[in-house]
Amino acid sequence: QVKKTRKNPFNNGPMIKVAHHKAYVIGSYVEHRLSSKMIQTVAIVFRSEEVQYYCLLCCDGRNISAAATFVAITSQIHEGNGSLWNIQSFQPVGNQQPRTENFPYAFTVCISVMYDYMNVLGLVQAMEMFKLLGVQKVAIYKINCHLDTQKVLDYYVRQGFVEIIPWTVSSYIKVSRGWKKSDSPGELHYFGQIAALNDCVYRYMYESQYVALQDLDELILPLKEDNWTTLIPHLEEIYQHHAGFEFENNIFPISLSSNKTPENTPDLWKQFEGENMLPHVYRIPNDPNEFNNFKVIMNPRLVFKPSVHGLLDSIGGTVRVDPKIARMYHIKSYPSKYFSPESVIRDTHLWDYADKLIPAVSEVLRQALNIQ
Ligand SMILES: *[C@@H]1O[C@H](CO)[C@@H](O)[C@H](O)[C@H]1NC(C)=O
Ligand SMILES: *[C@@H]1O[C@H](CO)[C@@H](O)[C@H](O)[C@H]1NC(C)=O
Ligand SMILES: *[C@@H]1O[C@H](CO)[C@@H](O)[C@H](O)[C@H]1NC(C)=O
Repeated sequence: QVKKTRKNPFNNGPMIKVAHHKAYVIGSYVEHRLSSKMIQTVAIVFRSEEVQYYCLLCCDGRNISAAATFVAITSQIHEGNGSLWNIQSFQPVGNQQPRTENFPYAFTVCISVMYDYMNVLGLVQAMEMFKLLGVQKVAIYKINCHLDTQKVLDYYVRQGFVEIIPWTVSSYIKVSRGWKKSDSPGELHYFGQIAALNDCVYRYMYESQYVALQDLDELILPLKEDNWTTLIPHLEEIYQHHAGFEFENNIFPISLSSNKTPENTPDLWKQFEGENMLPHVYRIPNDPNEFNNFKVIMNPRLVFKPSVHGLLDSIGGTVRVDPKIARMYHIKSYPSKYFSPESVIRDTHLWDYADKLIPAVSEVLRQALNIQ
């Protein structure tokens, strides 16, 4: 169904409910990579509900072959000038213009999802580390956060470094608040994280040369290079691969810290909520014979369906990066019953960034939170 409508509201925000059903449209994007051009919609649907969905495309002109600029999803066919009573709103269709070069951003990080977030220091440290690594944009799917966190986000939004995508899913759906179904039941896995990540890959497909899907307490660090800008071309060359690179997760428990750090925690930092990541330099060794989890940096134009760890549908899949070339530093609370303190390895690679990181973090805290 392609038609022109006048009166229906347009909506830029994600999460549009499909009337009468447990279905929510997140984002719609022109798909340029298949033999016939189509619109891909990222949506959350209730699997046991069997519904035939219809797209209602709103075009600039009368000619039905015109490219649609807005779309709504319904469970009914709308004839003629349409009884549009159950269309809540139309959504702009993204990715109208594909790009193969000159991307506005080299690296975009997708954070999904932020909820009850109060770790101000951790947020600023992560953002400044991302910058040192060559990241130019961070997309945050946000449910809620604390006041000081919001001030820091506002600062980065003003700078053009962060885009906030309001994530209202929990006001419609009973979401699970943890990744494990047995511990936190709900109708939707972990706040709808996977839908958010899918949206992010499409949203930045032609804006960003590469996209990384990770959390704020995770840092993918090259061991020999300074940043991702030089790391990724190097990986493309040695692995002869271009779609996605897997970086092995390494846990650095917060319970273990070094007395000696590059600089004592600045007094300024102590005023804020959150954990200074710099003292936590003890890595639990990964067993190379076991499965080790990972996160991915990808070329979004080669990806159809990403997931939290890896790609479900892509042109080329992922390759595992040798942890001697680059790996993920994951600084988190980790129960001591899961590791033996004797086995941990002291790994201070993060400190190689400290000279630049420490003054940058202090400066942001001062400016964002108005401290003299
Ligand atoms: C719609 O536009 C196409 C391309 O310009 C043209 O070939 C076609 O005849 C038009 N159809 C109608 C119904 O106007
Ligand atoms: C078109 O809309 C008008 C005004 O709402 C209505 O009276 C008419 O029946 C509609 N025509 C069709 C074919 O739906
Ligand atoms: C990345 O590292 C290279 C080589 O050390 C350097 O020239 C470049 O400026 C760095 N880029 C960023 C964004 O820091």
